[in-house]
Amino acid sequence: MEAQSNQTAIERVVSGRALQMGSSFPCQVRVVGFLWGVCFATLFLSALTSFGAFGFSRVSLSPISMGIPQGNSSSNIINIFARSDRDSDPKRPLGNVDSVPSGEQHQDRERASLLYSAWSALLKEPTDGSEELRKLGLSRSMVPSAPHLEDCKSHAGVNKRLDSYVKNEIFPPWTGWKGLLKMHSASITDEQLENLRRQEISEGSSPPWITGSDQENYPLTRKVQSDLWIHQHPSNCSDPRVRFLVADWERSPGFGIGAQIAAMCGLLAIALREKRVLVTNYYNRADHDGCKGSARSSWSCYFLPETSQECRDRALELIGSHDAWESGIITAKQNYSTKQIWHGKIPNFWGDPWTYLKPTTEINGRLISRHREMDIRWWRAQGVRYLMRFQTKYTCGLMNAARHAAFGAEAAKIVLPGLPEKWPQEAAEKPASDIERLVWSDRKPWVPRPLLSMRVRMGDKAGEMKVVGFEEYIRLADRMRMRFPHLHSVWLSTEMQEVVDKSRSYASWNFYNTDVRRQMGNASMAEYEASLGRETSTNYPLVNFLMASDADFFIGALGSNWCFLIDGMRNTGGKVMAGYLSVNKDRFW
Ligand SMILES: *[C@@H]1O[C@H](CO)[C@@H](O)[C@H](O)[C@H]1NC(C)=O
Ligand SMILES: *[C@@H]1O[C@H](CO)[C@@H](O)[C@H](O)[C@H]1NC(C)=O
Ligand SMILES: *[C@@H]1O[C@H](CO)[C@@H](O)[C@H](O)[C@H]1NC(C)=O
Ligand SMILES: *[C@@H]1O[C@H](CO)[C@@H](O)[C@H](O)[C@H]1NC(C)=O
Repeated sequence: MEAQSNQTAIERVVSGRALQMGSSFPCQVRVVGFLWGVCFATLFLSALTSFGAFGFSRVSLSPISMGIPQGNSSSNIINIFARSDRDSDPKRPLGNVDSVPSGEQHQDRERASLLYSAWSALLKEPTDGSEELRKLGLSRSMVPSAPHLEDCKSHAGVNKRLDSYVKNEIFPPWTGWKGLLKMHSASITDEQLENLRRQEISEGSSPPWITGSDQENYPLTRKVQSDLWIHQHPSNCSDPRVRFLVADWERSPGFGIGAQIAAMCGLLAIALREKRVLVTNYYNRADHDGCKGSARSSWSCYFLPETSQECRDRALELIGSHDAWESGIITAKQNYSTKQIWHGKIPNFWGDPWTYLKPTTEINGRLISRHREMDIRWWRAQGVRYLMRFQTKYTCGLMNAARHAAFGAEAAKIVLPGLPEKWPQEAAEKPASDIERLVWSDRKPWVPRPLLSMRVRMGDKAGEMKVVGFEEYIRLADRMRMRFPHLHSVWLSTEMQEVVDKSRSYASWNFYNTDVRRQMGNASMAEYEASLGRETSTNYPLVNFLMASDADFFIGALGSNWCFLIDGMRNTGGKVMAGYLSVNKDRFW
C-alpha cells in the first residue's frame, strides 16, 4: 500500500516534470526539501562563570525543551552560531575578548550572561525551568521580561478562541478589539456593541491573522482569508450538504516542505471550486515524537488545522462509507490529476484580482509589473497564509527557542542597562496591571530591525535553475543599503556550509543564522534531510521560514519554490511595499 502510493507520487513527479517542459512552471514539483538550520544547542550554564564564553560570537545553548529531544543524537545537538553587532563588530569583538576587560566590563558581561541563562531557564518552564532558575540563584520575579520571547500559552489560548465560533454565533469572534482587549469591560451597551459587530461583519471583516491595510497586501487578501475560513468552517459539519475532499500531504522524499504546501494549495483550490471542505490528513513531516497525541502526523502539530475538529471527524467517518464515495460527498487526492492539482483553475469567486496585483519584485535590476501565472502566485500566497494563520504552542515554542538562540545575547545586553544597578540582588517590581495583560500582551517579540531576509539556495538546486553565487546576494544587499543605510542585520537561511563560511568575510553585515549541520559537497537534499532526521529536518526549515517571513526586506531566488512562498507570506503579511529582490536573472519569479 505504502509502496504503491509512493509509486503514484513518483509518477506524479515524473508526469509533473513532463508537464513543465515548455511550460513556465519549471520548479515546483521537483523542488526538493528545503532546509535551513536553526539554532538550539547545548546550554552551558557555565557561561556564568566563564564570562568569556558569553562575549564570544559563538554561544552554546541547550536544546531548549520545547519538543526538541534532549537525546544524544548528532542531529539534535547543534551549536548555534549567531553573530550580533556588538559581538562581532569587526572593530571591537576580538579586542574585547582577548584583552583583559576592566572590572566593570567583566561584571556587565557576567550579568548579561546571567540574564541570558535566566531566560533560557524560563523557556523551559514549566518542566524544569524553576529548578534551573533556583540553581542560578534567581526566582521568577527577579527576571525581567524577555523582549524577544512570547508567552506561548497565552497566545495559543487566544488563537484557539479566534479560530472557533462562539456558541450560537454565525460569525467567528473577529470583530471589536484585538487579542485579550475584548475582555476589558466595555463602556458601551451590549446593543451598541452588537450594532458595531453587525456593521463590521457586513463590511467584510478583518481576519485577525492579517496585518496591514488592503493596500499593503495582495488585492482582496482580507476578504479572501475571511471567506476561506468561513468556507472551511461550516456551522454544521453533519449537514448532508457539506461535502469533503480528504487529502494526505505529498510524501515522496522528493517533495520538500515547500512543494508539499504548493500541492496543498492546489487541492484547496479544487475543494473551493467544488464547494468541498478540505481536510488534510497524514503529514509525514509531523510524524515524530515532538508532535504529541492527535497532533502526531498532522499539520495541526505546527499550525491550527485547516478545518474544525467536527468536520475532520465527519470526513474521516465518511471515508469508510461506500455510499459517501458513490454519491460523491467525499473525494480524495486520487480523484484529481496532477495537472489539476498543480495547474488547476484558480477559484474565481473574487473575480480575477491577480490581474491587477503589483508584484513589487525586482529581477535583473528591473521592477517587474507583470509576469506569467500571476494567478498562481496570488493563490499560493493566499493558500500558504491561510494554512499558517495561527501557530500552535509547539511552533511558538520553537520560534522562542530560535529567537533566543539568535538574538537572546543581544537582547540581554539591551535590557541590562535598565536594570537596578545591583541586579540580581536587587530586582525591580514587575507590574501586573490590566494594560500589561490586555493591551501589551499582543506585542510582537523583538528582533533586531530592520532585518533583511536572505535565502541562499545552492547545492542540488543547480539541476533546476542557474544557481547564483553568494556574491550576487551581497551585491543586492549592498544596493539595498544605499537606500536604507541603517540596514545591517541579515537573517541568513541556507543549507550550505560554504555560504555560512563565506558570510563571515562580509564584516559590514551582521549575519544571524542557525547552525544545524549543513549540507556539504553535492549530497542531494533528500539525502541530507534523511541524515538530519525527521524532526530536525522539519522544525529547522519551518522556523527559518517563519523568521524569514517576518523580516522587513527580502532577497532570494524567486525561482525556488520556498522563496516563492516566503514572497507569498510577504504579500499577505502587509509587506507589499517592502519589495523583493531576486537573484534569478532568467526567471520571472
Ligand atoms: C552519545 O553518543 C556517543 C557517540 O555515538 C556515545 O559514545 C555515547 O555513549 C553516547 N552517550 C549517551 C549518553 O548515550
Ligand atoms: C446538524 O445537521 C444534522 C443533519 O441534518 C442534524 O441532525 C443536526 O441536528 C444538526 N445540528 C445542529 C446543531 O443543527
Ligand atoms: C473518486 O474515486 C473513487 C475511487 O478511488 C471513486 O469510487 C469515486 O467515484 C470518485 N469520485 C468522484 C466524484 O469522481
Ligand atoms: C559529487 O560530484 C562529483 C563530480 O560532479 C562526483 O565525482 C562525486 O562523486 C559527487 N559526490 C557525491 C557524494 O555525489
